[in-house]
Amino acid sequence: MTLESKVAIVTGAAAMLGSAIVRAMVHAGAQVVAVDIDTARGQALQAELGPRCRFVPCDIASDAALDGLVPGVLATEGRIDFLVNNAVVYGDSGLAATRGEWLRALDVNLVSGALLVQKAADALALQRGAVVNMGSVGGKFGTANRALYPAAKAAILQLTRNQAATLAARGVRVNSVSPGWTWSDALSRMAGGDRAHADRVAAPMHPLGRAGDASDVAQVVLFLCSDAARFVTGADIPVDGGFSMLGPDQGRAAGDWFAS
Ligand SMILES: NC(=O)c1ccc[n+]([C@@H]2O[C@H](COP(=O)([O-])OP(=O)(O)OC[C@H]3O[C@@H](n4cnc5c(N)ncnc54)[C@H](O)[C@@H]3O)[C@@H](O)[C@H]2O)c1
Repeated sequence: MTLESKVAIVTGAAAMLGSAIVRAMVHAGAQVVAVDIDTARGQALQAELGPRCRFVPCDIASDAALDGLVPGVLATEGRIDFLVNNAVVYGDSGLAATRGEWLRALDVNLVSGALLVQKAADALALQRGAVVNMGSVGGKFGTANRALYPAAKAAILQLTRNQAATLAARGVRVNSVSPGWTWSDALSRMAGGDRAHADRVAAPMHPLGRAGDASDVAQVVLFLCSDAARFVTGADIPVDGGFSMLGPDQGRAAGDWFAS
């Protein structure tokens, strides 16, 4: 899957998942604008990947910063083929969340990406480009004591369909990717940095027997941007090792439950 001579914007690019997406796109030949508020990690990524990756510090929740982003990329890179809306904040106090917490979470996790699609739409249409929005298994199932993050992720899946329907006539494809538990800063923190431990805990929920790697997700983002996915729009692709194919019975027939 080659992205040679294409230009991509990836938000939330500095952390493990975002940087894996940037790496995969750069290795496929794209020029990537890596957007994040984490300047130290963003600059480190740029240093690692060289001239095909340009780090742009940008708070996607700031209108002024977003207004400057697309013209800045067009001035420097000359075109925009792909937009990957990946940035996120995880803070979620569930039922106790204040209005301010709700608005902040929805602002970063949902609204800012939607506004970036709006601002990049003309440039994307010129290239008959593609958008990939980051969903999550968290937006598909009930989880106790969480509300803000799953509500935003569920909304992203619907927004993706609306954006796809809106932009199809201009040749822009819009899809989402929904990872299961993926080895990332958050999962590493929970597992005390022990990947094998994370895989053991993840295995019963992920029939392929482990947590995902950031590169597993990145490969599917690459596919959705590539010409191989030229007739795919409005779709959500789970990258979850089978998490979302299971129901509450964990894939075991009633007879098995009674026998055990
Ligand atoms: N890690 C998982 O297990 C998992 C599972 C399902 C879905 N996802 C999705 O994958 C994506 C990446 O998740 P992650 O675990 O790498 O998250 P993360 O918290 O490790 O990284 C998020 C990145 O977004 C950046 N960011 C936050 N606010 C920003 C803002 N206002 N402007 C610009 N950048 C901002 C952060 O600095 C960080 O680099 C998210 O959309 C998340 O919902 C992750």
